[in-house]
Amino acid sequence: MGPETIAFENELAVALGARQVVAVNSCTSALFLSLVACGIKSGDEVICPSLTWCSTANAILYAGAKPIFCDVDPNSLCLTPATVAACITRRTRAIIPVHFGGNIIDVAELRQSLPRTMSIIEDAAHGLGGRYPSGGPAGSSGNLSCFSFYANKNLATADGGAIALRSVEMSRHLRSLRQHALPINAWKRYSHPKSLLLSNRLTELGYKMSLNDIQSAIGRVQLRRQPGFRSRRRAIAALYWNRLHSADRGIRFQSGFTSDYHARHLAIIQLPSQGNAGYRDRLLLKLRDRNIGATVHYAPLHRMPLYGEQKRRLPVTEDLFRRIITLPISSSMEIEDAAYVVDHLLDLLEHS
Ligand SMILES: Cc1ncc(COP(=O)(O)O)c(C=O)c1O
Repeated sequence: MGPETIAFENELAVALGARQVVAVNSCTSALFLSLVACGIKSGDEVICPSLTWCSTANAILYAGAKPIFCDVDPNSLCLTPATVAACITRRTRAIIPVHFGGNIIDVAELRQSLPRTMSIIEDAAHGLGGRYPSGGPAGSSGNLSCFSFYANKNLATADGGAIALRSVEMSRHLRSLRQHALPINAWKRYSHPKSLLLSNRLTELGYKMSLNDIQSAIGRVQLRRQPGFRSRRRAIAALYWNRLHSADRGIRFQSGFTSDYHARHLAIIQLPSQGNAGYRDRLLLKLRDRNIGATVHYAPLHRMPLYGEQKRRLPVTEDLFRRIITLPISSSMEIEDAAYVVDHLLDLLEHS
């Protein structure tokens, strides 16, 4: 981790409208380190949606805290101030809103509904390139916003992540935590003429979660290519939306999917309400037979043994899970590929 990582962080800060960016080796690490930096510890509760990738909740467990799963809105597929309010207890210390699929949550509105002392850590794994409904790029809110640069993300460094934030003090702490909390970072240790004389004295438990220069160099190129990537994703999303709407088969999209603020990371459709998981799974397999990489994001976490099979019912999440399908969307797809997806989806809906 040397000059390429510093340059990547600076360029990301400009692109995200963030005062500070701390690059790390994954979004999972970004979420975990953010929780540590916010002082989350054993006995604390952290609210997050159940409809998310396991990393969101696992980061909470790594910090020793308890994930409390909330429901989502059936249109946005994201948590809301009301679904969060239903989960707040005197132990709640933080909320992790997930900008699901790239649908950027109005965190300013969420903040107003919460006590000031509660930390908001945004899971922006899907959010790069999106904007808040009240303005500014995802990552510019001043909260801690955690991005993923995993291979299938809008910006990919094979594996990688970053935390965008406002607080200079917290960014210093995060930079230290990502590299064993060493008083001097590894690059300086090798490049400094008197490196042998520098202190290695540790005062805090840190982690090995830094982003190296090779990944950062890839990230810088990926960042420059964002406008092209973004317009391809937009074109694919528009084609899906137009064709499936005009086909009038009761298929619904995430609210905001074609708006300016959606990052279009995932193209999620909802089958009509008579759909059930069996029907959805058969449809998925038939799409796979036709060489279409459709999938489901995600199996709800609240009923999983790892998280204690929480008793709270989350009716919207449970209903959605039976009916959602993610259609392929990527900057390396051609428009003809997207047309092929819709042709086959409509054909299968017609004949099943
Ligand atoms: C919502 C969400 N949060 C967190 C992550 C974790 O990202 P990473 O693989 O960079 O750790 C992912 C990964 O897909 C995700 O989808």
